[in-house]
Amino acid sequence: MKKIVIASDHGAVDLKNEVSAFLKTKNCTVNDLGVNSADAVDYPDIAARAAEEFKKGGYDFGILFCGTGIGIAMAANKITGIRCAQVYDLFTAEMARAHNNANFIALGGRVKYCTPVTDMIDKFMNTVFEKGRHERRVAKIMALEE
Ligand code: RB5
Repeated sequence: MKKIVIASDHGAVDLKNEVSAFLKTKNCTVNDLGVNSADAVDYPDIAARAAEEFKKGGYDFGILFCGTGIGIAMAANKITGIRCAQVYDLFTAEMARAHNNANFIALGGRVKYCTPVTDMIDKFMNTVFEKGRHERRVAKIMALEE
């Protein structure tokens, strides 16, 4: 059973809740850190909260949401140990895991995706990191933190 932490700013509450419901149909354990209202919050705070929770351990990955998926991904990628990929179709969802071994993905509640978000998440969840040459490249990404 996969354990997933999810969190959103005010720009994607409905999408977060839709994704949470979807993940539960896939027998995932979902830790939903909110938010759950339209009251404005700052997405860097949400990214930090989710990353802190993820780094406690036991999670397979996390999903972050904001209006576009951009700001929250930018913030998450400033946090040590986090590799957050903005995914927008099945190909990027697959590659985020297969090549980049992302431990977070980011999505936008105000984005009109051509592919259902749940399909993208399903693809990400069911893809494995290919390792090999990608392991070296991901290690180089992480070395940039130093
Ligand atoms: C909030 O209004 C909005 O800026 C935020 O959700 C996100 O889209 C930022 O990247």
